[in-house]
Amino acid sequence: APKGTELIEAIKKLKAEKNAVILAHYYVDGEIQELADFVGDSLGLSQAAEKTTADLIVFCGVHFMGETAKILNPSKKVVVPDFNAGCSLADSVPVEEFAALKAKHPNAVVVSYINCSAEIKAMTDIICTSSNAVQVVESIPKEQEIIFAPDANLGRYVAHKTGRELILWEGACMVHIDISLDKLKQLRVEFPDAMLIAHPECKEMILREADYVGSTTALLNYVEKSDRQTFIVATEAGILHKMKMAVPNKHLIPAPANEQNSCACSECPYMKMNTLEKLYNALYYELPEIHLSEEIRIPAYKALKAMLEISK
Ligand code: 13P
Ligand code: SF4
Repeated sequence: APKGTELIEAIKKLKAEKNAVILAHYYVDGEIQELADFVGDSLGLSQAAEKTTADLIVFCGVHFMGETAKILNPSKKVVVPDFNAGCSLADSVPVEEFAALKAKHPNAVVVSYINCSAEIKAMTDIICTSSNAVQVVESIPKEQEIIFAPDANLGRYVAHKTGRELILWEGACMVHIDISLDKLKQLRVEFPDAMLIAHPECKEMILREADYVGSTTALLNYVEKSDRQTFIVATEAGILHKMKMAVPNKHLIPAPANEQNSCACSECPYMKMNTLEKLYNALYYELPEIHLSEEIRIPAYKALKAMLEISK
């Protein structure tokens, strides 16, 4: 593969030649976001994947996102830069154990966060993302039992917001639960005028401290609209790329992880597996490709579609 600026030019050329679209989540490296046709949160990316007319979708994110694109737009070839870019939430739900939970609550409506495998989506009634989880739960009749999987922190947040009791799956995002509350509190002291804004995958203690809670897109919109100057951003640091562009004169402080790391921030190791070289190879070889059986895809599509109907 070519290197440096040549690599970027080669990616652009291949993309045009192959009528490909590059979709990227806010958490991938800035240089990949710059090459993408669309950068967004999980909901925005699903909507973009569903409506694209490109022949080839290159999904720079994690595996479940590539699967979601394939579920929604099966006639397109969907490739990902690294097949091993997974997600701790998706990994927390084995199919058999999920089937056992469902069997224990046969009358429950199953709501699954989009961060799960296609197999789990196929066992779900309605998907949600962090942008519409409250809305999705509120769409279900009050007396109805609800299983909410796999993010228990998001689940507790939604339960609190809606006043509903949810049967939770105890999964978590390894990145958001590793944000340090102590370090956030120190930052609060250091920057008393800063607003603390947090993603709902964070632990309850952090969400209780936060001035605003929302999905990545919601956090981005919030810093743009707010008349405040300083923000402590409690989510994956990749979001700061677009935030800095949107509000170049504001002071954005990434939330630190418990373990001291080189960026003094919180990074998803899976999202960071996406590199320009791997993106080039995925475009060039049209590999690795996402394949799904119709047996899984069709029920998973129904669950995703039920969400997209609510979030139009
Ligand atoms: P959103 O993109 O919905 O904000 O979710 C964040 C996330 O962790 C994606 O993996
Ligand atoms: Fe999964 Fe968390 Fe990484 Fe998102 S940030 S892909 S939820 S591990």
